[in-house]
Order: sequence, then C-alpha cells, then structure tokens
Amino acid sequence: MTSRARTAILISGRGSNMLAIARAAQDPEWPADVVLVAANKAKAAGLEAARAMGIEAIALPHRDYPSREAFDMALSAALKARGIELVVLAGFMRILTPAFIRDWEGRIVNIHPSLLPKYQGLDTHARAIEAGDAEAGCTVHLVTEKLDDGPILAQARVPILPDDTPDSLSGRVLAEEHRIYPPAVAALAARLVAARAA
Ligand code: GRF
Repeated sequence: MTSRARTAILISGRGSNMLAIARAAQDPEWPADVVLVAANKAKAAGLEAARAMGIEAIALPHRDYPSREAFDMALSAALKARGIELVVLAGFMRILTPAFIRDWEGRIVNIHPSLLPKYQGLDTHARAIEAGDAEAGCTVHLVTEKLDDGPILAQARVPILPDDTPDSLSGRVLAEEHRIYPPAVAALAARLVAARAA
C-alpha cells in the first residue's frame, strides 16, 4: 500500500479547482494521488486538461442513465473499480443521492463559493452582493446528505468592494478557492492514509 490516498476529482466544467489540486499532487510526497477525473458532461473542459497532465479522465453523461440512482451507482462503481479512497467534488453540479453519500461518508469533500452556512445552493455571489454583505468567501466541507452542509474543514474570506459584480467577486473568491482547497484535501488524505495504516 502506498502512503498516498487514491483520489478522484469530480467536475462538471472548466475544472480550475481540479487543476489546482492535480498540480499540488504532482509532488510525490503529497498525501493524495489524483488517479481519476470524472465528469457528468462529456464536454467538460477540465477533462482534456486532466488528460494533458496524464490523469485518466472519463465522462459519465448523466443523461445516459435512466435515474439519479442509476447514475450514482455507475459513478460509485467506476470509483470502486479504481480503488478510490477519497472523492473530491470540484464544481460538480449534480446532487448526489443519499445512498452514494453514505457509501463515501467521511471520504467525500466539496468546495462551495460562500461563507457557509450562508448561501447554500446557487448564485452565491449575486446573493451576497444583493444582501449588502461586507464580505464573501468560500468553504471546504465534508459532504453529508444535506446539500452544502457538513463539517467545515477550511474557509477563506474576501471583502466585497463597492463596485463588485457577481463576476468580479467570483474571480477573487476563486483565487481563494485555489489557495485553500489543495491543503484541505491534503489534510483529509493524510488522515485517511493514517487510518488505513492503523
Ligand atoms: C467553483 O466556484 C466552486 O466553488 C463551485 O463551482 C466552481 C467550479 O469552478 N462549486 P471550477 O470548475 O473549479 O473552475
């Protein structure tokens, strides 16, 4: 057994958080080894970017499956077939079934572009600006059956500037996502590897 957790990253689009983590994982001493990137959309740009880094990247288009349960079962099977130990959600725009989450409990993590528990769900930056908040940010959390909930592992804050738009704010928050997600994944991976060795 290696001292690195076999890690899959699930994406739906450009995959910039996935790339931040995959780049950190190029260090062979890093506790997570990114062995798979999977997307629920064949056109997710992050798939090509992952392949360019030599990472296996697969599409499981959710529309190919008759139900949410069937999609999640196929996804779980693809992860298990590769001996995945840690699942990292990075812009994965699908709600996972309770059965899938139970299967991966304690080993599945997400990043959300708000200061949770504020603004679960979509359009977080627009909602924070609309509410007149002084700051916004991002949160890394363990995934539980409730959407955008679960124990918080890391959080970063950015000020909301007077002329911010959802786009300008999301750019600044995204830079913080890339900064905090890799070390949070590393910390969880190190814990999983230690538990495996115990
Ligand atoms: C990020 O803002 C992430 O917090 C949210 O979706 C976006 C994904 O961006 N869940 P990327 O695909 O990692 O570039």
